[in-house]
Amino acid sequence: EESQSFYDAVGGEETFRRLVRRFYEGVVDDPLLWPMYPAEDLAGAEDRLSLFLIQYWGGPGTYSERRGHPRLRMRHNPFVIGSAERDAWLRHMHDAVLSLELPEELEKRLWDYLVYAAHSMVNAPDA
Ligand code: HEM
Repeated sequence: EESQSFYDAVGGEETFRRLVRRFYEGVVDDPLLWPMYPAEDLAGAEDRLSLFLIQYWGGPGTYSERRGHPRLRMRHNPFVIGSAERDAWLRHMHDAVLSLELPEELEKRLWDYLVYAAHSMVNAPDA
């Protein structure tokens, strides 16, 4: 249907949960990224990223009910994100996106957004 949200088109909450689960499987094995994440609250981190993406793409607004306005660049200030961290993040996210086996057009839209968003999160210049 024409007015269907992207959220519905890709399969709703279950799809974003699968995406983020797969993404974090890569992150926990990444020596550059994993030290940045809260090892004791991996489930919480999965939940926050899933709920953000769900809200961003037109699903329920649970993320902001719990966390307020996303302000993602500000929330990433505590972490040093240079091009190496960005590229590692995108590598795991690319694996995760491909694992969904979405129709090409939906896959491209999701991936293009993630690339753009990851570039906008860089907060440290390369040495
Ligand atoms: C949180 C790293 C890019 C969305 C986090 C956390 C880390 C992190 C270490 C804390 C985990 C937690 O406790 O929730 C990075 C790195 C990135 C990156 C290294 C590389 C560019 C992105 C992008 C998005 C995003 C592109 C959105 C598309 C989020 C969200 C949270 C989060 C929604 C939870 C915010 C909150 O409510 O506290 N990120 N991130 N991140 N990240 Fe990223």
